Amino acid sequence: MRKSPDAAGAPTALTIAPAAAADLGPVLDLLRRSRLPEVGLADHIGSTVVAKDRDRVVGSAALELYGTAALLRSVAVDERLRGNGVGRRLTESALDLARSHGVRAVYLLTETAPTFFARLGFTRIERDAVDPAVRQSVEFTSACPSSATAMRLSLESEGSADPARPA
Ligand SMILES: CC(C)(COP(=O)(O)OP(=O)(O)OC[C@H]1O[C@@H](n2cnc3c(N)ncnc32)[C@H](O)[C@@H]1OP(=O)(O)O)[C@@H](O)C(=O)NCCC(=O)NCCS
Repeated sequence: MRKSPDAAGAPTALTIAPAAAADLGPVLDLLRRSRLPEVGLADHIGSTVVAKDRDRVVGSAALELYGTAALLRSVAVDERLRGNGVGRRLTESALDLARSHGVRAVYLLTETAPTFFARLGFTRIERDAVDPAVRQSVEFTSACPSSATAMRLSLESEGSADPARPA
């Protein structure tokens, strides 16, 4: 039997991949345990990535796509696996997904982890500076308290000379 993750760090069998419809329940459980909003996630499971240890969901990151803007939400890692780079890998995977959809700016709201996201290139912005379509999301209008920090990452300047990059 393999070692427990808290004794061994991140499990070597850990994979990060697009979520399947059947992952919704386990992701909602993870959000509940992580004290993050669950509302609205079901509508975006098709643009969610999950980390799995074998078949068990141990991490998530979801994108709400609004044209060339997106909201990054539901970034959570099972408490026993935190501090092993899983959150970073999930976020990077969600950003890759955003790029593949032609997203130019990714926004988020966080109460708990502004420093984590700053390490990944996000900068704090005023709520008024958030793309209006994103501002109409459930997270902005009701799920996240008004004290939450708004942050933005521009994907626009990256590889702008690359003709293969989605418009
Ligand atoms: C925030 C969270 C997703 C980070 O996941 P994780 O797997 O522990 O993060 P990682 O191990 O990938 O950390 C990446 C870096 O960020 C740092 N970091 C991790 N969590 C941090 C936090 N809450 N605040 C500041 N820095 C943090 C790590 O030290 C690491 O730094 P390094 O690159 O210098 O080594 C996880 O703590 C979590 O699930 N928290 C509860 C839910 C939550 O608050 N989500 C964010 C709001 S959507």
